[in-house]
Amino acid sequence: MTKIVLSPSGIEVPCDKGATVLSALEKAGYALPNNCRAGACGECKVKVLKGDFEQGFILDMALPASEREQGFGLMCMAKPTGDALEIEWATADTRPKLFPPQERMPYMVIEKTPVTDTIIKLRLRTLSDSLKFWPGQYVTLTHESGDFEERCYSLANIPNREGDLLLFVTKVEGGQASTWLHEELSEGERLYVNGPYGTFIGDPQAKTPVLCLASGSGLAPILSLTSGALYRGGFSYSATVLFSARTKSDLFEMGYFKYLSQKFRNFKFRYTLTREANPEGLEGRIPALLPQLYPDLSETSIYIAGSQAFVDDCLEQVKKLGAKDELIHKEGFVSQIPAQPAAT
Ligand SMILES: Cc1cc2nc3c(=O)[nH]c(=O)nc-3n(C[C@H](O)[C@H](O)[C@H](O)COP(=O)(O)OP(=O)(O)OC[C@H]3O[C@@H](n4cnc5c(N)ncnc54)[C@H](O)[C@@H]3O)c2cc1C
Ligand code: FES
Repeated sequence: MTKIVLSPSGIEVPCDKGATVLSALEKAGYALPNNCRAGACGECKVKVLKGDFEQGFILDMALPASEREQGFGLMCMAKPTGDALEIEWATADTRPKLFPPQERMPYMVIEKTPVTDTIIKLRLRTLSDSLKFWPGQYVTLTHESGDFEERCYSLANIPNREGDLLLFVTKVEGGQASTWLHEELSEGERLYVNGPYGTFIGDPQAKTPVLCLASGSGLAPILSLTSGALYRGGFSYSATVLFSARTKSDLFEMGYFKYLSQKFRNFKFRYTLTREANPEGLEGRIPALLPQLYPDLSETSIYIAGSQAFVDDCLEQVKKLGAKDELIHKEGFVSQIPAQPAAT
């Protein structure tokens, strides 16, 4: 057993031998930002002030050599090798707020339905305890066949009595897990769930208007976040989801969003089509539409989810329109292909 010391607060968190810094913090409930859990996105980067650690295989892009020399490390892959590792993260009033993740929780697939040509909806029901999670978080999935490596999928629903989890999986060309889930997985089969993970939970009590931007299965965490906040009486100002789809056939969960729009007067759902005319509404990519729709985002909380390219493009545009860093929350669906063994 070693320990992680958070600086400047001095909070100490125990870390099992061989565990990563991120998993030790999560086990203690601390919300260190993370995304890919595979050394590929850079989201979990912090400065290491004291102590030794093994960094493991990571992408240079996620932690360039110059930052490594300045003492930064990626905590999703970093394993302490001494008695203590001191990292620069969190403030004195930081408190644990996450549910400690569980491993290998058995779930049965009770529904598998195609919702577009490329996206399936999976409903998983627990065979043991219900997973406790915050709307917007994600889980990782494995199958006992070992036919695919562990992959991250966002939860699309909110905690419920049955303990069901709802996921939307996009088939990635040549992708091992997504292809397996689309082509091999049957209803009635068992999957193992690890989690919950992630910090895309935002602040449902935010005292600002809320704008959520999503494309493809990026709608999953937005669905969870918005329904979670609306049902808990959050989003005291207006909340809008703007969804980007290529064609009308790429729209899904429209019935549910229409329902939310009728039930909650402060909630609005809009979509734009990028590869087809949309006589009823918006056309074109979200970053191009934003300046005319929302010319001033300086007092708006922003949530963005989808492919990394979509998130990056939206992020650049919302910043140009004045969005404040502290009010921007993002979840990029980055690849978890293990990084190159270039950097150790
Ligand atoms: C926090 C988080 C939440 C996620 N939530 C969801 C979700 O709700 N629904 C969902 O469908 N996916 C989600 N993803 C993406 C998912 O984890 C996998 O990356 C995706 O399903 C591809 O895995 P694969 O095994 O099929 O492809 P792999 O075998 O890992 O990759 C095959 C090829 O596709 C490329 N590739 C891999 N992943 C992606 C990607 N995401 N976009 C573009 N190219 C890629 C790889 O670089 C490689 O060339 C999420 C990712 C993260 C990090
Ligand atoms: S979460 Fe650590 S690099 Fe992505």
